[in-house]
Amino acid sequence: MGVHRILRLGHPDLRRTSAPVVEEDFDSPELHRLVDDLVATMHAHEGLGLAAPQIGNLRRVAVIEIQPGNTRYPGAVPTGRLVLVNPALTVLDPTPQRYWEGCLSVPGLRGEVARPRHIAVDYRDPDGTPRHLEPEDFLATVFQHEIDHLDGTLFIDRLTDTTRLAFLDEYREFHATASSNPT
Ligand code: NI
Repeated sequence: MGVHRILRLGHPDLRRTSAPVVEEDFDSPELHRLVDDLVATMHAHEGLGLAAPQIGNLRRVAVIEIQPGNTRYPGAVPTGRLVLVNPALTVLDPTPQRYWEGCLSVPGLRGEVARPRHIAVDYRDPDGTPRHLEPEDFLATVFQHEIDHLDGTLFIDRLTDTTRLAFLDEYREFHATASSNPT
């Protein structure tokens, strides 16, 4: 178990499509180690989500955990730790919602991205147990951001207005408002 270096924009692995975890790999030491490494790396960088390709492992695995008092997105509602293996996404309500997203692989930037506000996600636990969640609002955006990583997509690809891309300091000074929470 350990904290990994996070691949940054420009690394080709961030642009590749990750492979599903195959049946015999569920509940394996390798999969549990990958999840432990993702969680440790996410915590070390105060992220609220991290996908396996961001540490150079091209499998369809991601973790999400919004902790109370997190500093990167202080307004976000806390969640427990969610480990998504082979997630599949269905849109329940396509109404676009806009949040300023950041990414540990695109450090120092925030950009406003519109995504469907309510989705369903079917996925499996590392031990293989099927799970179903229907996140909405900011959490729906977090799920879509992480699942995008598994297909080689970054939030900057989703920008529709590049005037809504800013360095973090300028975002906080000029763009962060109550309506763009969490900051
Ligand atoms: Ni990201």
